[in-house]
Amino acid sequence: MIEEVSNYLNQIRHEFTSQALNEKAAGDSPVKLYAKWLEEAVGAQVLDPKAMVVSTVSKNGKPSSRVVYNRGINETGFKFFTNYDSRKGHDLEANPFVSVNVFWSEMERQIRMEGKVSKLSEEDSDTYFHDRPRDSQIGAWASAQSQKVVDRTELEKWVKHFNKKFDGVDVPRPPHWGGYLIEATYFEFWQGRPARLHDRIVFEKTDSDWNKYRVAP
Ligand SMILES: Cc1cc2nc3c(=O)[nH]c(=O)nc-3n(C[C@H](O)[C@H](O)[C@H](O)COP(=O)(O)O)c2cc1C
Repeated sequence: MIEEVSNYLNQIRHEFTSQALNEKAAGDSPVKLYAKWLEEAVGAQVLDPKAMVVSTVSKNGKPSSRVVYNRGINETGFKFFTNYDSRKGHDLEANPFVSVNVFWSEMERQIRMEGKVSKLSEEDSDTYFHDRPRDSQIGAWASAQSQKVVDRTELEKWVKHFNKKFDGVDVPRPPHWGGYLIEATYFEFWQGRPARLHDRIVFEKTDSDWNKYRVAP
C-alpha cells in the first residue's frame, strides 16, 4: 500500500491553468489583495477559506505548524484565537515570529505571510470570546490545549465540571485563552500557471510602505 501511494505521489501531475496575477492587478496593498482573494475564495466555495497554517519556532529553534482560523483582518494584520498555554502559545512567548501559509487548491493560489505577533487586548479577546457558542466557551475551560490527557472520558469530565460551575451564568473568558494579532511584514501571492511558470508577487514592508516585486517560480 505504501509503495502504491508512493508511486501515485511520484507520477501524478497537475497543470495549473485558471488565471494570472500581474504586478498591476496585485495593487499596492497586500492586505487588500488578501481580502480580494479571500472574497473570491468564498465565492468559489473553497471549503474552509479562513483556515491558515501558522508556523512557530520554539525557544530551542524547533519549528511546528498547525491550522488556525483567521478571525479578522485590518490594515495592520490578522487575528487568531487560541490557548496561550498551548504549544504555539509557549513558542510565541519565547519567539513572536510566525510564518503563515494559506493554500486554496480550488483557486490554484497560495499566500505566504511572515510577521510578528502580539497579544490582542483583553477587551478584544473578551468580545470575541463572548460571541462564541457556549459549548466552545466551555471547551476553552475544559481543554488544557496541547497537554497530555489520559483518555476522552477525562475531557468529558472537565466539560461536565465547567458546565456545572457556570450553570445559569455567562461563561467568563479563561485567563489563558485569547487572541493574537499577526503584523505581517512579508507577503507572497502565488498563482499557479501553465508549465510551472507560476506568478509570484511579493510585498515587503519598508519603513512607511510596501516594496512590491516579482520572484521567479
Ligand atoms: C480547520 C481547523 C481550524 C482550527 N482552528 C483553530 C483555532 O482557530 N485556534 C486554535 O487554537 N486551534 C485551532 N485548530 C487546532 C490546531 O490546529 C491545533 O491542533 C491546536 O491549536 C493545538 O496546536 P499546538 O499544540 O501547536 O498549540 C484548528 C484545526 C483545524 C484543522
